[in-house]
Amino acid sequence: MQILDGKIVSQAVKDSIKEKTVQLKAQGKKTPHLAAVLIGNNGASETYVASKVKSCEEVGFKSTLVRLDAEVGEAVLVNTIEQLNNDVDVDGILVQLPLPKQINEEKVISLIHPDKDVDGFHPMSVGKMVQGLPTFIPATPYGILLMLEHYKIETKGKHAVVIGRSNIVGRPISILLNRNAYPGNCTVTVCHSHTPNLKEICLQADIIVAALGKPQFLTADMVKENAVVIDVGITRVADTTKKSGFAIKGDVDFANVAPKCSYITPVPGGVGLMTIAALLMNTYNACLQKEVEGLKLKV
Ligand code: GUN
Repeated sequence: MQILDGKIVSQAVKDSIKEKTVQLKAQGKKTPHLAAVLIGNNGASETYVASKVKSCEEVGFKSTLVRLDAEVGEAVLVNTIEQLNNDVDVDGILVQLPLPKQINEEKVISLIHPDKDVDGFHPMSVGKMVQGLPTFIPATPYGILLMLEHYKIETKGKHAVVIGRSNIVGRPISILLNRNAYPGNCTVTVCHSHTPNLKEICLQADIIVAALGKPQFLTADMVKENAVVIDVGITRVADTTKKSGFAIKGDVDFANVAPKCSYITPVPGGVGLMTIAALLMNTYNACLQKEVEGLKLKV
């Protein structure tokens, strides 16, 4: 069994981005700039956004954090996004999800200019991804692909079972693993909360992506020998032995599943770190695209 080490792979991706950013600057080009919008005080969102901002610094990017009150009206958020869309220095925009209930998530995502949609959530980005056209790929699925690629894991002809069908992870990774490319060329089964015989389906999988957000859901009896297991879960569970008062748990019962696997991602230290590295890749590409094509600010 080999651990798919998000620390090592994300650091390699970040080192390469850092080097390319130094070269951009040496050529007199602009510094990649990510703007993150954080609404309210959700603890997990605060942690994720702080990590994203810190990672920008690490690779030499500029970052802007726009914080809005939990009770903010939709009009203020719309105005914030329009300002960031029109700011020629900003290359990538992300609005951290989930949003408070008074805000329409779909509307907000659709307002982000597709050229700056480094989360890859805009319908135009999703449509392009489905058709296999160049676009921004959502950061978590992109991070999983980078991980598979780094460890040269064979995907062609394999049966991948994805548990979860969210727009952020399950659905996009199912499409990406199915495309005619590497990593890809899998036969993909997408399972969800209404799937009967989930255990039987998982037992047929060469690759399992657990992305349902239920701590330690995937148990050893659901995994065949030598499977590749990718754990996307990051749930905070109360733990009085930790200073923070919580521990981070994945969707996989790691202790019992790991001995059966050929490869497995740990939590923490797996896919979560890759998500940030992939976001930085998207931001770098957004910046470069602008350099290549010139500014196209109004759709
Ligand atoms: N919330 C959980 N994952 C993500 C992500 O990848 N991007 C954004 N914007 N919000 C998230």
